[in-house]
Amino acid sequence: MTRVLFVCLGNICRSPSAEAVFRGLVRERGLEDTILTDSAGTGAWHVGNPPDERAQLVGRHYGYDMSDLRARKVEDTDFAEFDYILAMDNSNFRNLERMRPSAYAGTLAMMMDFAGRNGEEVPDPYYGDLSDYETVFDMLKPAAEGLLAHILDEMKK
Ligand code: 4NP
Repeated sequence: MTRVLFVCLGNICRSPSAEAVFRGLVRERGLEDTILTDSAGTGAWHVGNPPDERAQLVGRHYGYDMSDLRARKVEDTDFAEFDYILAMDNSNFRNLERMRPSAYAGTLAMMMDFAGRNGEEVPDPYYGDLSDYETVFDMLKPAAEGLLAHILDEMKK
């Protein structure tokens, strides 16, 4: 089993969107028993809440039902459970680096690295409008595809 965690600030916009896009690919390929997905936030303001209504609205247009997802805060124990921890922006990445145990053998990376856009951030849409949420989904699709291709490659080794 490969476990993948997507992380942003609030866990109501970018990381649940990333989870929805990636699990869509996992389901399309019938890999639900092989790849487990989750998402979390570095902040706790929205813990227990479903994704932002704008993320859900735009997500539905892209074919993703995110209504089952609930926000949670990233935990130290996540490093013992997840093989991949993907940050949406530099601030998330720095916070995760501070939490990372030195013995962590998994991959902590920026999400957009997997779209060949090394170090690029998925911009926070929270104070934006619906077009900013569309930008998020447009960026996440190729990154999710690249991530899945990478994981499938690693599983062959
Ligand atoms: P997210 O967006 O990190 O993509 O979930 C945000 C959601 C909420 C807040 C900031 C960003 N907030 O400040 O409450």
